Amino acid sequence: MRVLVTGGAGYIGSVITDQLIDDGHAVVVYDNLSKGHADAVAREATFVEADLTSGDTLRATLVEHRIDAVIHMAASSLVGESMTAPGRYYTNNVVSSLRLLDALVQTNVRMLVFSSTAAVYGEPARQPITETDPTSPSNTYGETKLAVERAMHWYHHAHAIRYASLRYFNAAGATSRRGERHDPETHLIPLVLRAAQDARFPITVFGNDYPTRDGTCVRDYVHVSDLARAHVLALEALARKDIAEPIFNLGCGEGYTVQEVIDAAKKVTGREIPVKAGPRRPGDPAVLIASSERIKSVLGWNAQASSLETIVGSAWRWETTFSQSGNANHKGTRVHGAGADAV
Ligand code: UFG
Repeated sequence: MRVLVTGGAGYIGSVITDQLIDDGHAVVVYDNLSKGHADAVAREATFVEADLTSGDTLRATLVEHRIDAVIHMAASSLVGESMTAPGRYYTNNVVSSLRLLDALVQTNVRMLVFSSTAAVYGEPARQPITETDPTSPSNTYGETKLAVERAMHWYHHAHAIRYASLRYFNAAGATSRRGERHDPETHLIPLVLRAAQDARFPITVFGNDYPTRDGTCVRDYVHVSDLARAHVLALEALARKDIAEPIFNLGCGEGYTVQEVIDAAKKVTGREIPVKAGPRRPGDPAVLIASSERIKSVLGWNAQASSLETIVGSAWRWETTFSQSGNANHKGTRVHGAGADAV
């Protein structure tokens, strides 16, 4: 297939791009580089540096490259920031996605895989969370992703767009080529590993009085390469036919506390990890664990690299080796588009 990956210069998008290329697909990465890195785009991909709100560039890209399907990753994705800048999240996540959906209709592209989030569930009443559990986002980020899911539902009915929405739990880990390079970094595992490398940056544990086995929050960590494979499986399923239930949780069904992540990092790195106790972070649910039954039975997905040790070990190798030597730099076709508002 010929696949357009929006946000393909980011952490998860770059791994998905590699996976698609490894599987023999042709990839065009569409990214405005507001957060991504040009050198995280695989050499074999075509790179279009442009914004989703640049309608002419977007439509021209879809037509020129004869795109069959889109994986839509481009978004603002920081929960905390979404609470102080809701307008940015509605613009970058909802408005841009609507522009994309309209461009797909106009250019007759009918397959879309969307990057959604566990944040659509808010503070869930039960665990593990199933796709039919109520959605009640407790932050703007989750609200905007849910809004796009609803829009896709109606575009499916009106315009026969076939879609799959993957609700990520906690994406983590690295491949031999790509890893997390956020600025600022807010995610637990890279921050724990930075603390292991430099005692001047202790990890602050956000709350130790949650109703969990050790008082710290529980999350369901899924290795980024397992996550990437789920996208390819979703695309292949869409290419075969409509998916009757297009919403999928993407987590492993197992939860680890913040303290357990720190302990795993100690074991993997063989180093002490300086820890500070801090207050709860606003908007953090105590426990988020996916039921992954649907994605297993419908798409045939299984986690292969998502044990906590594998995740933390791969992230540690990335931090200590690969990130020092740089990514497999992009040297392929690079096309500049007009307009570059942040997405
Ligand atoms: N944590 C700390 N200290 C830190 C950073 C994180 O204790 O310095 C804790 C958090 O409180 C949380 C856990 O580690 O309990 C994981 O936090 P992350 O920031 O790594 O990830 P989140 O669970 O907050 O967020 C992830 C995705 C979001 C998504 C959300 C769904 O990054 O995009 O899951 O709830 F919206």
